[in-house]
Amino acid sequence: MTLTGSGPAHDPPAHTPRRAGAPVPARTRVYGPERRLDRRVALVTGASSGIGAATARRFAMDGWQLLLNGRDRYRLERTAAGTSAVVLPADLAAPDGPRLLARSALHTTGRVDVLVAGAGIRWTGPFAAMPHTDIDRVLTLDLNATLHLVREVLPTMIAAGRGRVVLLGARAGAGEEAVYRAAQAGLAAFAGALREELRGTGVGVTFVVPGPVDTASRTHRAGLLTPGEVAATIFDAVRRHRDEAHVAPPAESRARALGPGLYRRLRDRFG
Ligand SMILES: NC(=O)c1ccc[n+]([C@@H]2O[C@H](COP(=O)([O-])OP(=O)(O)OC[C@H]3O[C@@H](n4cnc5c(N)ncnc54)[C@H](OP(=O)(O)O)[C@@H]3O)[C@@H](O)[C@H]2O)c1
Repeated sequence: MTLTGSGPAHDPPAHTPRRAGAPVPARTRVYGPERRLDRRVALVTGASSGIGAATARRFAMDGWQLLLNGRDRYRLERTAAGTSAVVLPADLAAPDGPRLLARSALHTTGRVDVLVAGAGIRWTGPFAAMPHTDIDRVLTLDLNATLHLVREVLPTMIAAGRGRVVLLGARAGAGEEAVYRAAQAGLAAFAGALREELRGTGVGVTFVVPGPVDTASRTHRAGLLTPGEVAATIFDAVRRHRDEAHVAPPAESRARALGPGLYRRLRDRFG
């Protein structure tokens, strides 16, 4: 059984000078070109790795002002390199983490136009053997922290009459990830309900569902999506104000074309 993306099995990376612990006020540092507050602002969590890092780079390429969150400052700085991104390290699983991050973000730029909630951890193994603490860790970060962060940034989006929240889901399929899947199902329900609630406010909710992606939270194997492919889908969905976006690995798209039997077998195998 494995916990990936966070926790004892993952953090701290070797180059991390200190382990993130109790909530600390996020500190800011600016990189590269001068920050311009007339630009659109995206707050990206999970920006130190995988999908979040690739998404941050994609938005930066289009001239957005980026606010980057994760716990690992060194890896956030790597994502920020060459851009005007501001790094806001904070532990979102800490009780006050989402509130402190939102406060730092709004203090830095005055507004958040798009929130991409890319922070997440995954626990794999039989549920009957899953430690209770890990049940809490997965639900706390993947579900609760995301909802609290959205709750913190939403009022300023509604007041501005514009904005977009991007949530990441995962497809049902692969086994031994019951709690991770439960969190994802919760996010899907939340995205749909919140979208309806926000109709007419100018604020939208995009739910992005990638197939398996080659990131720290997956064992590396052939045929997975790249984080860049998912980032491109997220960027396009934001640009087009899409409610939902699905992205499948290239092999799966080819299998779909070959017929439903092979497609189902691949999905059952890879999730
Ligand atoms: N990979 C896939 O196949 C896949 C498929 C569908 C959906 N997704 C979803 O996409 C999202 C990103 O997945 P990924 O594969 O890109 O993950 P990843 O590479 O493991 O990255 C996880 C990110 O979450 C951050 N994080 C972990 N614990 C945190 C905490 N307590 N506070 C703040 N940040 C924290 C990590 O930053 P630090 O280590 O610096 O804290 C890292 O930036 C997840 O929600 C996942 O469920 C992934």
